[in-house]
This record gives sequence, structure tokens and C-alpha cells, in this order.
Amino acid sequence: MCGIIAYIGSRTAEPLLLEGLKRLEYRGYDSAGVAILDGDSLQVARAVGRIIELEDRLGEIGGMGGTLGIGHTRWATHGGVTEANCHPHRDDANGIAVVHNGIIENYAALRTYLVGKGHAFSSETDTEVLAMLIGELYEGDLEESVKAALREVTGAYAIAVICAREPDTLVVARKGSPLMVGVGNGEYVVGSDASAIIAHTTQAFPLDDYNVVRITREGFRTSTIDDAPVTPQVMQLEFDLEQIELGAFSHFMLKEIFEQPKVLRTTLRGRIDHNEGRVVLGGLTSFAKELVKARRFILTAQGTALHAAMIGEYLLEDLAKISAEVEYGSEFRYRNPIIEDRTVVVGVSQSGETADTLCALIEAKDRGAMSLGVVNVVGSTMARETDAGVYLRVGPEIGVASTKAFTGQVTVLTMLALYMARRRFMSPDVCARCLKQLDAIPDKIERVLESDGHVREVTERYVGRDNWLFLGRGYNYPTALEGALKLKEISYIHAEGMPAAEMKHGPIALIDEGMPVVFIANQGRQYNKVLSNIAETRSRGGHVIAVATEGDTEITKVAQEVLYIPECEEYLSPLLAVVPLQLMAFHAAVLRGHDVDKPRNLAKSVTVE
Ligand code: M6R
Repeated sequence: MCGIIAYIGSRTAEPLLLEGLKRLEYRGYDSAGVAILDGDSLQVARAVGRIIELEDRLGEIGGMGGTLGIGHTRWATHGGVTEANCHPHRDDANGIAVVHNGIIENYAALRTYLVGKGHAFSSETDTEVLAMLIGELYEGDLEESVKAALREVTGAYAIAVICAREPDTLVVARKGSPLMVGVGNGEYVVGSDASAIIAHTTQAFPLDDYNVVRITREGFRTSTIDDAPVTPQVMQLEFDLEQIELGAFSHFMLKEIFEQPKVLRTTLRGRIDHNEGRVVLGGLTSFAKELVKARRFILTAQGTALHAAMIGEYLLEDLAKISAEVEYGSEFRYRNPIIEDRTVVVGVSQSGETADTLCALIEAKDRGAMSLGVVNVVGSTMARETDAGVYLRVGPEIGVASTKAFTGQVTVLTMLALYMARRRFMSPDVCARCLKQLDAIPDKIERVLESDGHVREVTERYVGRDNWLFLGRGYNYPTALEGALKLKEISYIHAEGMPAAEMKHGPIALIDEGMPVVFIANQGRQYNKVLSNIAETRSRGGHVIAVATEGDTEITKVAQEVLYIPECEEYLSPLLAVVPLQLMAFHAAVLRGHDVDKPRNLAKSVTVE
């Protein structure tokens, strides 16, 4: 939700921190700041707005020397978007500076305590409380005072801390918010995700909860906040710079939409055994026996991932004949849910860090469920907290609006449903047929992408309208929800998605002359019913934009606009139908002049409840 970068080594820290912050800007872009130690002089620069504002501020003061520093890009939680609330926060008495992701839940009580001790605060943030607390407990050893402070804290944190009295030491720690240490040659780069690190080293280790790492130029030492030694596992980061750079594209969202055929081939690679007619999911092998006995699946997620999970529910019931349901993580956790014997809870998430989903998974585990992760980010908290799982393998998703992660999640959930079906009752022949159809999806998405110019023209005709409806049935009801979410989150157009049949139970009152109503009207069991809903819309003056199957000429008689997708099995159709909706949202945002990759008020990964 915010981004952290820290550096210790022999290179000048300032450009390195700025470059890292730019790569992390997708995680938060309200404001940014750096603190750099030049010898024992602590220099701090902060600015509201994008990293470019911070760069300008640094330019004005003539830049900073020093080879040890911390940086932060913020998405406001405690306190408004002001310079006073920007990180790094300081305890000036000891020259301590802190950057922090997460929320200190008991910050009010700690603040009262610190005010009693004579501390004066200049911000409204929980992070300043942490900086002051570390200062209050400082007795000549930064690592010790950080640990002592964290023992007093409840909540979530990833922090990086420096102190002018210890100009060769960087201390970082984590609980509930991701942080990793990149191990270079005589230097260390710490980041809240790998994209901040990858330009400098591919060797890194993620911190576990309650881990504290003391880093000097000579090496590092990891222990828990209670001083128990920890031996971290340094791993190879599996992606390269190209994946997190724009290349020829204008926006990450567009790049990620167009990447879908390629990355979905990677999602499928090595997981389909055409000869045996089965799905091979290595991450589930050790739980295969328990999985087969499962009586019920609960899929939990938020946002776009929830829409993918809804499609997963249909797939598990339809293909594998297993009872399945979908829950918002945020609601599930606090509802006192009943977990019966042989329940599998599946967390679906791009980041693997979404707090609402993570908490729901942990709650379900505590109540005896087996847990699976359908996650993109390798080594993320969800990937580590679950009993087993399947990675999406769609590569880093930088655009705040999730696109390739959605199709990756639906692809993995399709494989999971077929895996279950095959182990329970499906014959190798039937499964092989389904897998062949699934394998053909990336090529079909490529064909949908060829219609980008047409999607843009259609979008241009309606982009001035402020209220849109997205309607679908069956497998494409979640697709309608996803189309509406995409449009609203980046173009700020009000859009609602719902089952097509639900429209006449109230929302039809909204339809007036010229209102754009997007129907997912591909060929399938409910096609004729969708046609009826289209007729109902037309007779109230709505303008129908239909996503329909190639070769369907009937649809041109009832819809003003048609966006075609190739013919496919109904259960695979969301993978194609969502693509024109992603493109439409992208073009609407560009045409309205919005910052597509950094929509207002939104952060890429929501790591607070
Ligand atoms: O990282 P996750 O997939 O768990 O994120 C869940 C949602 O926060 C995310 O999908 C959000 O809805 C995106 N803004 C959608 O584009």
C-alpha cells in the first residue's frame, strides 16, 4: 500500500533511492520522501505528490551525498496528504529516521505516553509515534531500541530505520507487511517488493513476521524481536527488469492487457498433460489425497480477485461437482463462519498480501480448514501461510487496475476445477478435450486484442456518459462485475455490474435515453434470456454494447455496438469476454485524461483491513 526502499553500500544513495521509489510508485503516490546519512549528518527531503516533486525538491537543495539511506512513497492512512505527514518521520533528539508501511494500532496510547515524556509531534501519523518511541528507548544501540519499540507495538509494520549516531547501520523489520532484503556485492537494497531490488541484485530474502535485520556494509544479522537468531533463506528472484518496464507501451495497464496471451501460456506451461488427459499442479501434490476428499470449497478474495473467485465457484460446481461458495475476506473473517470437516479455503490474490483475504484465510485455518493459495507473487505472505497452492505465473503486475492477474486467476481456477474433476470422476478423454480448449485460449485472446481499435472507437462514442450498466448471466455475471469495476476505478465513471436478470428488479429505473448498457451476450445456455434483457433495455432508451460470439449476426439487429470474441466453451468465455471490457476501461480513462496506472485514491495492494 506504500513503498519502502533502503540502501547501504558504497554508491551514492540518492539516485538509487529515487529510482527505487519510481519503481515502487504504483504502491502509493500521495507523497514521498528520503532520509540519507552523510557521515553523521541526517538529511531529509519530503514532498507531496509524485516522485518527480521529490526529485525537484532534491534538485533545489543541490542533492544529497551519503551511501546509506531510506525512502518511502506513501498512500495515506493516518493523517491527510501533507508534507508533515510524509515519511521519513524522525526523532530529532537522536537523529533517528523511520519509513513504515502498515498501521500501528495502539499509536494513540503510545502517543499519549510519549507526550508525557516530553515529545512534541509534528504530524498526525502513527509512524512518527514509532520514530519517537525508538528514540525514547535508544541507549546507544539502534537494533536494540527498534526491537524494544516493536515489542510495545500492536498492528502491522514493515520498517527501515537509520540513526545519525550509527552511520554504518541500517535496521529493518517486519510484521504483517512485506519486506525483502536484496543481497548485492558489498551492498544491500531493501524493498517492500522485488521491483525495487531487481535492478541491483537477483539474490534476496523475504523477512518473516517479527524478524529484525541489522545490516552493515560488512554483512547482516537476522533475529526475532525477542533476540532469537534466524537464518534467512536467500533465494533467486525469478523475474527480470524488462518485466517491470514499459517497453513500447504508453501505460502498464495496456502492456499488461496485451501481455495476456503470452503470460497465460506460461500459466499453462507444464501443467497440462494432453496424453494422460490430466492437470499437473506440483504445488498441490502433497495435499492431493486430502483435496480429493474435500466436501466444500470456500473461495475468499477482494476486488478483481473476488470476481475471478466467483468464476471459480461456478467452475468447481459445474466441472468438478463440488459445493463451492465465494466470500469477501473482510466479511468472512468477522462473521463467525462455520467450517465443517473437509472444507478447503482458497485465497485468491495477485499480491498475496491483501490483508482482508489473508485474515480470512488465517481465520479459516484456525477453524480447521485446509488452505490453498491462488497467488501471483512468489514468496508472498499468502503463499507462505497456506498449506498448498498454485502460482499464477503472470509476472509482476504494476498497473493498479488488475488485468492479467484476473485472467491468470481464472485460468488457474479452471485448472483446479479440472484437476478435482479428473480425480473424482472425469474420464481422461473428457478432461483432455477440456484441456485442449483451455490451451487454445491464449491464441483466442490474441484475436480479441486485434479489435483494440474498434473498442476504442466504441468507447469514444460513449465516454461522455456518466452512468453505465454492465450485465451478464451465469459465468459472465462476474465478468460484468469486473467490467464495471475496471471502468469505475480508472475512469471515475459510475458503473454498476449485476446479473442481467436482476436489472428488472429495480436498476432498470436508471435507464434513460442513451445510457450505455454493456451486455455480455456470448453464445451459451442463457443467450436467449440475455436477448430478452437487451430488448427490455432498448425499449427504455438504453444503448446496448454487446460482447458477442463471432458469427452472431442476430445480435447486430438488437445492439447498437458489437464487440466480438471468438467462439469457445461457455465455461471459458470470461477469459475472452473480459478483454474488450479491460480495453474499454483503459480507453475511457485515457480519453478522460486520467492517470491510468495511478488512479486517484487507489493503491495497488491493500495491506490494511
Ligand atoms: O492483490 P489482490 O489480488 O489480493 O488485490 C485484491 C484487490 O485489491 C484488487 O483486485 C483491486 O480490486 C484492484 N484495484 C482491481 O483492479
